[in-house]
Amino acid sequence: MNCILHGEYLANQVWLGGKLKEISECPKCHEEHLAERAIDEEKARKQEEAKNRQARIKETRMPLEYQTKGFSTFIQETDSQKAAFKLARRFVKGWEKAKAGGYGLLFLGGCGTGKTHLACAIMLELMERYLFVYPRYYKVSEIFSAVRSTYQTGVITNEEEMLKFFSSIQLLVIDEVGIQKGSEAEKRILFSILDNRVTSNKPTILMSNLGPKALAELLGDRLYDRVRSKCVPMLFAGPSMRKPATADLFD
Ligand SMILES: Nc1ncnc2c1ncn2[C@@H]1O[C@H](COP(=O)(O)OP(=O)(O)O)[C@@H](O)[C@H]1O
Ligand SMILES: [Mg+2]
Ligand SMILES: [Zn+2]
Repeated sequence: MNCILHGEYLANQVWLGGKLKEISECPKCHEEHLAERAIDEEKARKQEEAKNRQARIKETRMPLEYQTKGFSTFIQETDSQKAAFKLARRFVKGWEKAKAGGYGLLFLGGCGTGKTHLACAIMLELMERYLFVYPRYYKVSEIFSAVRSTYQTGVITNEEEMLKFFSSIQLLVIDEVGIQKGSEAEKRILFSILDNRVTSNKPTILMSNLGPKALAELLGDRLYDRVRSKCVPMLFAGPSMRKPATADLFD
């Protein structure tokens, strides 16, 4: 046979009942087609992977803003940033130990100092490295409203089940602890979840704008002591890293 691209080649012919059913394609064309298919399949696999990765990130409930941030975009200029970064890295590296012992982190410091950024970077990196890590991000206020939603009539989940749900999350990241002065009922919810997690060795990453003293006051000495025995503290110092909006955003 003659291939318009590659010239003459020896073809296999398949005859069936006196009719020519098939002529084999040019071996060079065949090779090219196989290579093209392999590239397409690889592309599809990569797309599928990216889709799964995105779905997994979404499942963590981390805010959109932080989904594309990570360790790579965390600036380490000040000593505080360096120390925080190092601790975050160690946590990821020591995840198996953190998981086994229920050890977490306690990020303290003023707003805009990178607490949420670094906590989300930890979640992203853990998911990148381990297949079976299921971190969940909740602001304290979101936990409260989830628990409160069970008080409504007609809702099947009761408060106890909801508390159990938060207590059983593999790695729970709780943001904005103490941002609003909680009611007694809300304090009880937070105590219950933290106490359960601490006593059942579930790692938790806690973030708060409060100083150690104010946090101890909020949680009570007993619970604060327990949290301190499980969560390695890190003070985020320095001014806010959040960039102020400028008019050129509209250009
Ligand atoms: N060290 C850092 N490197 C890069 N960006 C940072 C750093 N610290 C904070 N940011 C950015 O500043 C903004 C505020 O940080 P965030 O983590 O939300 O602060 P916090 O949770 O402590 O209030 C975010 O957009 C974050 O990405
Ligand atoms: Mg924050
Ligand atoms: Zn050919």
